[in-house]
Amino acid sequence: MNEEQRLHNSQVNEVKKTEKDYSQYFQSVYVAPSLKDAKQRGKEEIAYHKDFTIHPEFLGMGQGRKFFIRTFGCQMNEHDTEVMAGIFLQLGYTPTQNVQEANVILLNTCAIRENAENKVFGELGHYKKIKRDNPDVLIGVCGCMSQEESVVNKILKTYNQVDMIFGTHNIHRLPHILNEAYLSKEMVIEVWSKEGDVIESLPKVRRGEIKAWVNIMYGCDKFCTYCIVPYTRGKERSRRPEDIIQEIRQLAAQGYKEVTLLGQNVNAYGKDFDDLTYRLGDLMNDLRQIDMPRIRFTTSHPRDFDDHLIEVLSKRGNLVEHIHLPVQSGSSSMLKLMARKYNREQYMELVRKIKAAIPEVALTTDIIVGFPNETDEQFEETMSLYKEVGFEHAYTYIYSPREGTPAAKMEDNVPMAVKKHRLQRLNNLVNELSAKAMHAYDGEIVEVLVEGESKKNSAVLAGYTRTSKLVNFVGTPDIIGKLVLVKITNTKTWSLEGELIEVLSGQEVGVL
Ligand code: 5AD
Ligand code: SF4
Repeated sequence: MNEEQRLHNSQVNEVKKTEKDYSQYFQSVYVAPSLKDAKQRGKEEIAYHKDFTIHPEFLGMGQGRKFFIRTFGCQMNEHDTEVMAGIFLQLGYTPTQNVQEANVILLNTCAIRENAENKVFGELGHYKKIKRDNPDVLIGVCGCMSQEESVVNKILKTYNQVDMIFGTHNIHRLPHILNEAYLSKEMVIEVWSKEGDVIESLPKVRRGEIKAWVNIMYGCDKFCTYCIVPYTRGKERSRRPEDIIQEIRQLAAQGYKEVTLLGQNVNAYGKDFDDLTYRLGDLMNDLRQIDMPRIRFTTSHPRDFDDHLIEVLSKRGNLVEHIHLPVQSGSSSMLKLMARKYNREQYMELVRKIKAAIPEVALTTDIIVGFPNETDEQFEETMSLYKEVGFEHAYTYIYSPREGTPAAKMEDNVPMAVKKHRLQRLNNLVNELSAKAMHAYDGEIVEVLVEGESKKNSAVLAGYTRTSKLVNFVGTPDIIGKLVLVKITNTKTWSLEGELIEVLSGQEVGVL
């Protein structure tokens, strides 16, 4: 028995207790999710698999077949899709952008809010006809929603066009799952509710040739009371520094210009190593030495953001001056109910330290309004914190109860109309401060990584500054993928306009 089979069997045994809930529906492969099991921390060893390979018997599986993947949610999901696309290619499938001509359709789903889930169910509804017209098409659901029992139950009851459901820990099992789905008449379900592994050498088909995502860690142990992620993505586990560094060196050699390091809580990077003391600050310091023009990371948790990291970021070079630092609320009592593990004062102190070290830093954030029992005064504290920090952008959300999380059990006396009104007021402030931040660029010369033609006008090029501001300017397509200097001549709420000054050779990057 090889390592992968052993791992699989141990998982199957582990979830036996949930079998009876599902056995009426199918007899073949089924490993059903359990949010309760997914919540456990610390009992399982993290397995580190260095050598992912596809079993030779599966290699011709995709000959003459096409795959289509639709991705919902965060960058982590986008990157998982790149990995699944890599596996499909190794199996011999070809990609298609047209769902009608696909032989395998996958929905890579997001569970973070109810409306994200509703979009997926809506999309699945559309696939009923596709399945009716062509019963040989395989339809699969993966990503965070598949980790939820309630979702799997709903699909079993209502969406019998679905052939396979697999979880976030089962991506590397895609060849087996597909094989099983071709052989079985029943729905194939394989969702491991485990703490998670680290699997290296998975194939990837990256979406572009300019910017790349690189996972540095997986999972989350923070258990903010509103959040489903710690249940769907397992425990915090870091990739080894040498694997990350090697991947980024390769990307640099391939000509990529920007890397975004990914993790649900990147500031916890390295906490799980028991054989070395090496945290995000150390990683960023090592990545500074690599010839990759820009390096970003997302998402940060304020609690784990340490002084060493700030010191390293202040050295700049290829480490950009943009930090996304979700605050969620400006009220200390709300933060306590959310179990964020910091209060308003601690957040402001962190902001003060970051600004002292990197005065030109662009800070952006995530905010939830209408958390259970949020009062007008508490909401006003969020508004005042937003102004005090001077955020340049924010993703704002109305709280959405997620089954299985502690907040979902809290009684909530805030009417939806009040929540919507608060969101509107906050969004007005977000727009106002964004326009103000943009205005400050008027007349400045900025470094832009040119990504392509503008969506609105193909004669115009579009790219981003180190601070993640969209810049449009007139230029020829030969400079796509290059770093250039642009003089800003006009500012809008969400973008800048300018004139091309110079194409950089690569040596001057980060000097402005
Ligand atoms: N309801 C609303 N927003 C949420 N987020 C996470 N969980 C919820 C929820 N249950 C938001 C947080 C987080 C971002 C990715 O999504 O602001 O930072
Ligand atoms: Fe969710 Fe909090 Fe973890 Fe972010 S830090 S993924 S909000 S539990």
